[in-house]
This record gives sequence, C-alpha cells and structure tokens, in this order.
Amino acid sequence: MVPTKNNFNSIFVLLLYTFCAICETKYIGGYYWSGSNKITKISDLNLGLLTHLFYAFVEVNIDGSLTIQNQEQGFVDELLKYKLKTNPDLKLLFSFTNKNDSFSKVIADPDLKSNFLTNTLTLLQNNSYDGIDLDWEFPKDEDKENYVALLRDLQSLFNSKYILTAAVRAIPIYKNTGYIVPEMTKYLDIINIMTYDYFGSWSNTTGQNSPLYPCSLDSAYEREYLNVNASIFNWIKVGADKTKLALGIPFYGRTFTLADPDNHGIHAPSKGGGSPLSLTFYQIASSYSNYITVWNDEQQTPYKYKNYTWLSYDDERSVARKASYAVEQELRGVFVWHIGADDVMGTLTGTKQPLLTTINETIFQIN
Ligand SMILES: *[C@@H]1O[C@H](CO)[C@@H](O)[C@H](O)[C@H]1NC(C)=O
Ligand SMILES: *[C@@H]1O[C@H](CO)[C@@H](O)[C@H](O)[C@H]1NC(C)=O
Ligand SMILES: *[C@@H]1O[C@H](CO)[C@@H](O)[C@H](O)[C@H]1NC(C)=O
Ligand SMILES: *[C@@H]1O[C@H](CO)[C@@H](O)[C@H](O)[C@H]1NC(C)=O
Ligand SMILES: *[C@@H]1O[C@H](CO)[C@@H](O)[C@H](O)[C@H]1NC(C)=O
Ligand SMILES: *[C@@H]1O[C@H](CO)[C@@H](O)[C@H](O)[C@H]1NC(C)=O
Repeated sequence: MVPTKNNFNSIFVLLLYTFCAICETKYIGGYYWSGSNKITKISDLNLGLLTHLFYAFVEVNIDGSLTIQNQEQGFVDELLKYKLKTNPDLKLLFSFTNKNDSFSKVIADPDLKSNFLTNTLTLLQNNSYDGIDLDWEFPKDEDKENYVALLRDLQSLFNSKYILTAAVRAIPIYKNTGYIVPEMTKYLDIINIMTYDYFGSWSNTTGQNSPLYPCSLDSAYEREYLNVNASIFNWIKVGADKTKLALGIPFYGRTFTLADPDNHGIHAPSKGGGSPLSLTFYQIASSYSNYITVWNDEQQTPYKYKNYTWLSYDDERSVARKASYAVEQELRGVFVWHIGADDVMGTLTGTKQPLLTTINETIFQIN
C-alpha cells in the first residue's frame, strides 16, 4: 500500500497519544461551583471533557477544621459516583478557600496546622477524592514562608498518593504578594494561574476581562501585566516550571457603563461596571444576542456593546485560541472557572458544553 498523507498522519497521531498518555502533559481542569445561582445537574455534565474536576469550595476554619460548602446537597458523593460511571480516569479534587483570613492563622500555629493536615487527609480518605487545590486569595508577604512550609508538609503528607494544586493570581510579584515562586513550583503538581479579571468595573476604561495579548493603546504597565501572555511569561520569569503552569479561561464576562455610547472601543472611557457586574457565558448567549459583537483581533477576544452597556467575555473562538496557546507554549494545560457557566445543555448554541468541548478538541487535537 502506498502510504498516503493520511496514513502518516494517523501513525503520527497514534504515537503522540501514546507519548502523551505516558508523560501526562495534557491537563483540562474545571471548577464545579456548588454555590452557583444556577446549579448544574451533575448528570447533565460530560465529565469526559475534563482531566481534573475541582469541587468548590471547602472552607478552612480558624481551628483547622474543614467545612464542605453545600454538603447537604450531596454533590461531593454524586460527583464521585458519576465519575466512576463515566470517566474513571478523572481526578477529583477539593478546592480549599479562605474564611476570614483563616489560612494565615492556621498555618502560623503548629497545633492548628497539624490539625488542618490531619483533617485534610481524613477528608480525602472519607470521600475517596484525589487531591486538594489551595484557592487562597491571597497570601501576603508575611505569610510567604509559612505558605511554602505548608506546601512542603502537604507534599510529604500526600507522598504522591494525592495531588496538590493551587490557584494563584495573574501577577506573581505584586506589592504585597506572599509567593516564593521557585519553592512553590517544587511542591505543587499544577499551578492554576487565574488569567482573568484584568479589566472590570474598577478600571477607568473598557477592557477585556481576559485578553490573550496586549492592545496597542495599552500603557506600559498594562502591556507588561494585564494580559494572559504577559502573565505566563511573568510566572516563568520568576521561576515557575512551565510544565506545571495552567492558563485560566473564564466562562464569564464583565460589564461596563460607557461614558459616551458613541465611544465604544477598547479603552473607551467608562463610568464603572454595568448591571449585573458579571455574566456567565450562558447569560450572554441567551440575553445579549442583539448586541453588536466585535472580534478584537489584537487581543484575540470578543466584546459586545449597545447604548451605554459594554461587555467583555470569551466565546468558542477565544477559548480555542487560548487552548492552542497553552499547547504552543508547552504549558501543562488550561483550567476553567466554572463549568456550569457554559451552555451546558446546548439550548442556545446547539452543542452541549460548547466552550469546554472546544477546549477538549483543541487541547487533544493533533495536526
Ligand atoms: C476529549 O478529547 C479526547 C481526545 O481527542 C477524546 O478521546 C475524548 O473523547 C474527548 N472527550 C469528549 C467527551 O469528547
Ligand atoms: C474575623 O477575624 C477577626 C480577627 O480575628 C475577628 O475579630 C472577627 O470576629 C472574625 N469575623 C468573623 C465573621 O468570624
Ligand atoms: C470523616 O468521616 C468520619 C465518619 O463519618 C467523620 O466523623 C469525620 O468528621 C470525617 N472527617 C472529615 C474531615 O471529613
Ligand atoms: C483612574 O483615573 C484616575 C484619574 O486620572 C487615576 O488617578 C487612577 O489611578 C485611575 N485608575 C486606574 C485603575 O487606572
Ligand atoms: C508574549 O510575551 C513575550 C514575553 O514578554 C513577548 O516576547 C512576546 O512578544 C509576547 N507575544 C505577543 C504576541 O505579544
Ligand atoms: C440608552 O440608554 C439611556 C439611559 O439608560 C436611555 O435613556 C435611552 O433611551 C437608551 N437609548 C436607546 C436607543 O435605547
């Protein structure tokens, strides 16, 4: 048989799959937010689109005990059962959140910390979950040694049996940020960089919530810090191992109130946020279809406007660009906040979970 280009391609694809199954570089994380206004039925989700799922959230209490948010709803156990039925390879993690600055206090006190470590292990064993994600927003300068010590303790406690990840801010070295990146990168399996919330109601002008690249009107500061590409490079520059880095993709957008409806580009003067301040992809697809939509080619993200309302968001095209970027830059992968904000049932777009499906296709697609 004369080898055709297609045959070569399939052999190549097969080899790459085998390789990637071994090196485990591909990562698609998704947060399941138990506190969302519009709760997604777990059985409506296709868990085959993810490699890791984070249950949000578990509160860390001031005495080192743990509280599963919305535990009475039974999501924790339902997720486990549904995973075993539909995608046994999926890793299930608990995402830990701060409660009244509890992290800082618990990790500074040896007894509280020891209590916390014991409770963490019991929580994982009790629920047959695969690991934890520290979503501490944010450690301060005085916490940084304790934070790294906590990561070291968790890694040694987990002894490769459980996964340890953290969600971190887009700017690694910020005024008072308690990150010692070269140390963090040693102990964490995956670092979820929250590459979103760059522009919003707090900005003086319109701007993309999560631009992949800068815009030509950006100030020097904005160019160096307020886009996804800059964040990835900034994290690498201060010592992060890029094979552990994941880029965050928001399934939501942010609204602005234009100062002048006739001035509706990027960096148009704004008078703060609109109402509501943020919108899920589902809400945007359902209620903003009569807005004018602009693809911002420079920043590889879309925005919409009508009259005084301006909104920045992510769509199928921009999430595909970000997932490709993660592959091109040889990062670990991407994660999304949050999977329930997608058009889960496909009622608006005709595809179930269109954003997550696009991400899965892009991350696993081999050309
Ligand atoms: C996600 O991508 C992988 C690789 O192409 C594929 O095996 C899997 O079926 C996809 N998941 C879904 C639910 O389509
Ligand atoms: C939060 O912590 C502060 C300082 O420890 C304490 O005064 C306050 O009562 C706590 N608030 C709540 C809601 O627990
Ligand atoms: C683990 O399960 C036991 C028995 O149901 C329960 O008493 C304990 O509070 C659980 N601990 C954690 C941390 O979930
Ligand atoms: C907004 O504009 C004011 C006045 O020019 C300036 O002082 C402030 O720093 C600006 N804020 C931001 C977030 O750019
Ligand atoms: C991404 O950031 C790197 C590092 O700053 C820079 O060299 C590169 O030009 C940026 N890419 C784009 C398209 O802006
Ligand atoms: C634009 O918004 C203003 C203020 O909300 C309102 O008074 C006006 O009627 C709107 N114009 C159009 C064309 O909808």
